[in-house]
Parts: sequence; C-alpha cells; structure tokens
Amino acid sequence: MFFKIQRNPKGRLVYIVEGLHQLPLAGCSKEETAFVAQRQKNGQGIIELNATGGEVFLVFREQKEAEAQSAETLRKQGVALQKVLNKIRAEEITIINLSANSMAAFHLAEGAALANYQFLKYKTDAKKLKNSLESIYFAKESLNLQLVTQLQVIMDAVYHVRDLVNEPLQYLTAEQFAQDITAIGKEGRFRVQVLGKAKLEQMNMGGILAVNRGSVLPPTFTIMEHRPAKALNKKPIVLIGKGIVYDTGGLSLKPTKNSMDRMKCDMSGGALVTGLMYMAGQLDLPLHLIALVPATENRPGVNAYVPGDVIKMYSGTTVEVLNTDAEGRLVLADALHYAKKYQPELVLDFATLTGAAAHAIGDAGIVYMGNASEAIKQQCCASGFRQYERLVEFPLWKEYGDMLQSDIADLKNIGGPVGGAVTAGKFLEHFTDYPWLHFDIAGVSFHTAAKDYRPYGGTAYGLRMVADFLLHYGKRRE
Ligand code: BES
Ligand code: MN
Ligand code: ZN
Repeated sequence: MFFKIQRNPKGRLVYIVEGLHQLPLAGCSKEETAFVAQRQKNGQGIIELNATGGEVFLVFREQKEAEAQSAETLRKQGVALQKVLNKIRAEEITIINLSANSMAAFHLAEGAALANYQFLKYKTDAKKLKNSLESIYFAKESLNLQLVTQLQVIMDAVYHVRDLVNEPLQYLTAEQFAQDITAIGKEGRFRVQVLGKAKLEQMNMGGILAVNRGSVLPPTFTIMEHRPAKALNKKPIVLIGKGIVYDTGGLSLKPTKNSMDRMKCDMSGGALVTGLMYMAGQLDLPLHLIALVPATENRPGVNAYVPGDVIKMYSGTTVEVLNTDAEGRLVLADALHYAKKYQPELVLDFATLTGAAAHAIGDAGIVYMGNASEAIKQQCCASGFRQYERLVEFPLWKEYGDMLQSDIADLKNIGGPVGGAVTAGKFLEHFTDYPWLHFDIAGVSFHTAAKDYRPYGGTAYGLRMVADFLLHYGKRRE
C-alpha cells in the first residue's frame, strides 16, 4: 500500500464525518443528505453516494467511545471501506477528515491497509486475485507528513512480517530466513550478521544445537543492529524472536490432531523483531537496538535429541529434556544468555511459546510476564491499548520455578500439567540478568480464518504495540 498527501483531492473521496450537519462540507445536496439520514439509521457502515459513479464515500465516526475504542472502530470501518473499494475495483482514494479527531484518517487508512494485505506468491492466477486498492491519499489538513511516513513504514513492516510467517518451510528454512532478514536489512537500513552452524558449535550454543539435531539443515543465529549516531539510550534495548521455522514437536511429535498444520508460524517472534528493526531503520529511531533470532526446524530424525537427554546450554546450565516439543525455550535461552554481553537496558522476547497462553486468553491479546519495572510494564500496556494489541500479565511466582526442578540436571524443560505459559516464562527467566519482558504470542500470530483487519495466515500481531512503545520510549527521554 502506498500513502501520500494529496494537495488537490480529486477522484474518489472518502469523508470522515461526525454528523449529518457536516454533509454540506462533503458537497452533499439536500436530497443526498436525506438519503444518508435514512441509511445511517441502519448503523455505522460505509455510505456510498452517487451510487452509479461511486465517487463519494462517507464514514461516520463514533464519538461516544473512549479514544482507544474509537480508533479500533475506525480501523474496522477501514476494513468495510476496503471491501467496498475492491468490489468496484478502485485503485486509489483520498481521505478527507472532517471529524474532530486528528488521528481519524490515520486509523481508517490503517484498517484498510491491514485488511488489504494478500499473500499471492503461490497462486497461479495472482493477477486476477489481486485486490485493486493500491494507494491511499490524504487531504492536506487530514494528516501531517510525519504521520503519513510513520503509517507507511509501519504498514510495510507488518507486510514484511506477514510475508515471512506465511512462507512455508519448503522455502523458509533457517538459512533462508537469515537471508531474507539480510535483504530486509538492506532495504530497511539496519546491520545484519549471521552466525552459522560451525560458529554455534564453537560457541557451545547447546540449546539451539540440540533442537537442530533432528534436522538435515543447519541452524542460524541472526544478529541485527540499529545504532543511530545520537541514541537516547546508552545501553541497547535487545529484542529476541523465536525462530523455529517449523515445529513438528520432534520425537515428542505433536499429539493434537491437525495442530502441526500451522506450525510454519513458529518463527513469528523472529519475523516480528525483524519488522521492528525495519521500522527502526526506516524511521531512524533514536534508539540503539539489537535483535537476535535463533532459528532452526524442530524435527524427529535419525539423530534427533530424545526425551531424557541432558543438554548443556550456552550459559553452562544443564537441562533435562523431557519433551522435545518444548523446544522454543531452549533456543530462546541461548539467545537470552547471549544478550548479556550487551549489558542491555531492557530485553523483550517474542515467542509462539505455549499452547497454554493461547488457551488462557485466545486471540484477543498477548500473555506477557517479566521482571522489568512497573513503569515499563505500564508503558507496554498503554501501547497495547492504543494499538488494540492488548497485554495480560501472568505472574512469575517462585513456586512455578519449583516445577522445573530436575532429579539429574539443573533444570528440566517442562513444568507440570498446568500453568504451562508461566513455567515456560520461569524457564526463560533463569537465563536473564537484566530488565526483561517475555511476550507469548502463540494465540495471536496466525489466523486460520480472516478476522477483521487480519487476513488468513500471519497477523504480525504485536508489531504495532511494540512500535508504539519504542516510538514513545524515544520521546519520553527527549
Ligand atoms: N510452538 C509451540 C506452541 C504453539 C502452540 C505455537 C500453538 C502456536 C500455536 C511450542 O513449541 C510447543 O510445542 N509448546 C508446548 C510446550 C509443552 C510441550 C510443555 C505446548 O504448548 O504444548
Ligand atoms: Mn514445540
Ligand atoms: Zn514451538
């Protein structure tokens, strides 16, 4: 999607209005106003005028709602608008905001752009299936240039994340993932370094190497860096993303019927941090950021790690593997230990880590936990509300840690039959010595059916929340 400010709006126009009294400003005649008044009784839909030409569209902004809710309503109205525009094969529109909310055009366009995403790489008749909408313009007073740029970059970041998640393993192996990140780094202007298998062996990254043993393909460990000349933080913020390019469960093969079908999405955390680095580079965010993506498949194989194995992690901690399907925490633990070398100000990890998180709250939000300050947690939650990618905190009480005690090693890689999202977090906590938050995105990363502005497949859920957090993190220090 392409966004731009249009000085002389022409062609198809979309007016955001707050009531019938504004219709003359949108060029409506008395008859049209009467027509709209009749239609509006039926609810908050998109009202199309000049039905034959389809040149003017009206979006009624809901004023009674609180700020975050009203933004979400506008995003959903953007979805309805996107549907109407594609039906008439419109390629471009101009949004004119007549409402009192200065972000209304942003949120409407955001919803339309998020809904307009498609993954057509493997469709033979892609041209025919392609949505018509390509450009969204804004009247000069409706959105300033800085926000238009921000919207463009964040939407491009979301599209990159979704593309990565939607790629099947057959294309997106660990090495290909690293290559794609490198390409996105060139485009987005951040540095990328890839550690290969030999290097990981030399460093004794035992968690990643153990998970990789069932695979014929090598693992990768990708390091990204955005270091602006004038960073507001002295010590970097480190983002870590789980990069399991496919999770079969390994020898503890996934037991639930059909649960493997969407396990190409198990690198969603890795895709998410790549998208965030893209945003940081493109917007030249005044923050020093590092991102780490440990990547491999998790497969049964002749040499696969087995339940009962005791592995030695990069940190030196020994772990008794009692379920090879609890592989995410093993690769993340090595990355969390690696992050210590930066003496980071804050570490955020993103992982499709547990079915338990998905079971607990479904796809309505992200389960998160960690030992970062209350202030940081509050800012994350505020960003979550603003972007409607909300957070629920789970408790890292010490009793949950007791469930990870092993008889023969320092830790075991699974807890008990209950509290699975927290015991996974407890496992990760063991490998941290800095302010840290863990985001379990298992419930939100992938949709098996389109829902609102998230089409089938990868959602990039969480990207807008963290982007918002980082944008404000910068500002707060100014
Ligand atoms: N990748 C899965 C978690 C997952 C579940 C992601 C649903 C996306 C959707 C993870 O590696 C996993 O298998 N977790 C196990 C852990 C258990 C064996 C302790 C789980 O949640 O069942
Ligand atoms: Mn697993
Ligand atoms: Zn997994």
